[in-house]
Amino acid sequence: ARHLLGIEHLSPEDIRSVLDLADSYVDLNRRTVKRTDALAGLTQINMFFENSTRTQSSFELAGKRLGADVMNMSMQTSSVKKGETLIDTALTLNAMHPDLLVVRHPSSGAVDLLAQKVNCAVINAGDGRHEHPTQALLDALTIRRAKGRIQRLTVAICGDVAHSRVARSNLLLLGKMENRVRLVGPPTLMPAGFGDIGAEICDDMREGLRDADVVMMLRLQKERMDGGFIPSEREYFHRYGLDAEKLAYAKPDAIVMHPGPMNRGVEIDGTIADDINRSVIQEQVEMGVAVRMAVMDLLAQNLRAERGRAALEAAH
Ligand code: CP
Repeated sequence: ARHLLGIEHLSPEDIRSVLDLADSYVDLNRRTVKRTDALAGLTQINMFFENSTRTQSSFELAGKRLGADVMNMSMQTSSVKKGETLIDTALTLNAMHPDLLVVRHPSSGAVDLLAQKVNCAVINAGDGRHEHPTQALLDALTIRRAKGRIQRLTVAICGDVAHSRVARSNLLLLGKMENRVRLVGPPTLMPAGFGDIGAEICDDMREGLRDADVVMMLRLQKERMDGGFIPSEREYFHRYGLDAEKLAYAKPDAIVMHPGPMNRGVEIDGTIADDINRSVIQEQVEMGVAVRMAVMDLLAQNLRAERGRAALEAAH
């Protein structure tokens, strides 16, 4: 494929290819190594219309490790503030002939729309509450490295599922790889329809965590609650915050994950987040660089093949 817009479009083989290539970029100290100049001569533009710490910086690092020319568009100071539309911004950038466009946008579907207007590979770095495919891929790599497999695991995804693109992409990926997924959280934060794509729904944290291999916590995404019901943080932590007592319901070797940014004392107790025997939160960040290198390497291979075919056709 030319783009990575969502996990929805990937097959289990596609997922395995990304994870295997990403793994090959990680050395024994869990550091990603510069292995090739796969993106040499290519231009990567990062367009983030929403805040990001982890995703933007790891895409930048990943591109540089593979030899791309990387440009970060500052959307806070761009002409978007003057009313330029997403499509006009995209067409302007397209005229600069980028090869890879990495886009985060607050509206679900905005990245798909943009991909239809440009001539390069587009990577969805998170669109509204729709998808965050590279997050699910880096989570899968982290799980596979910790558990030795990415099949036949029980994964509890807990908290504000309704507003979470991370939950949606993870649910899709884990389902495709034949895992058992439980979505755990208050009914007010549980979307309709996720049960239809194979998840078990549970509103009791202890029941939801029972015998889980992986516990994935989500942030309360107040910025997407649109004036709807926002639970009190104290009450929320009491019922749904991950602490040692609730974690004891999961398997003794269960790992704890969080995509970040994390609100300590709201969805997760700080001591659990920092417990190096249970928490793989820092490893998730480390795997983010490797996974983004793999995704861009594979898309660049497709792009070069596509351009090669087009050049051949033009010559005939
Ligand atoms: N997990 C994640 O997307 O983090 P950022 O918002 O910091 O990129």
